[in-house]
Amino acid sequence: MGKVYVFDHPLIQHKLTYIRNENTGTKDFRDLVDEVASLMAFEITRDLPLKEVEVKTPVQTATSKVISGKKLGIVPILRAGLGMVDGMLKLIPAAKVGHVGLYRDPETLKPVEYYVKLPSDVEEREFIVVDPMLATGGSAVEAINSLKKRGARNIRFMCLVAAPEGVEELQKHHPDVDIYIAALDEKLNEKGYIVPGLGDAGDRLYGTK
Ligand code: PRP
Ligand code: URA
Repeated sequence: MGKVYVFDHPLIQHKLTYIRNENTGTKDFRDLVDEVASLMAFEITRDLPLKEVEVKTPVQTATSKVISGKKLGIVPILRAGLGMVDGMLKLIPAAKVGHVGLYRDPETLKPVEYYVKLPSDVEEREFIVVDPMLATGGSAVEAINSLKKRGARNIRFMCLVAAPEGVEELQKHHPDVDIYIAALDEKLNEKGYIVPGLGDAGDRLYGTK
């Protein structure tokens, strides 16, 4: 069963409150999502393996550490996931970025895939799939299906706000995928929106609607 990690860092929780606020406008919303994505990237990379290297300082040679192990890939689920990419790349600039395009059919709430492009060395990378929202879980499950179909083995999922229903669905379909979130909310409403949530993440990021 995939584990669920809630990032309770005060800066993440504080900024999430402003992200949720209906009075936060598009520019501030986008900036805050970017900042929280950086902070979450800091937390999610906490367990990356290190190796020792020698480095020559102006004083003498030191034994110091650099990140080792698998290379990272960030995969935003379009379109709202895009809002988290730059913030993550600020801390993990060497990561490659893949894209999975999905939208949720408003009637059936089922995800419809329209675009997939991943780094060519998919089997050698550790992927972080990102999307601000995990609601029914349909989009995350489908995006991860898409990655696995193309050879990805090592996948984590990271989002801002999750509903219990989405966490359960993702754990059911992808028990090997750990889930990293800033908040676990109460439930979904009849339209499949997270309650209390933050509304429609894509619309709030890009000023549509
Ligand atoms: C939103 C959100 C997730 C999805 C979550 O995207 O960004 O991708 O819904 O819902 P689910 O867990 O029930 O699948 P949306 O379909 O609105 O597309 P957009 O990002 O293009 O706005
Ligand atoms: N997608 C969103 O953007 N918000 C929700 O609450 C649910 C799905």
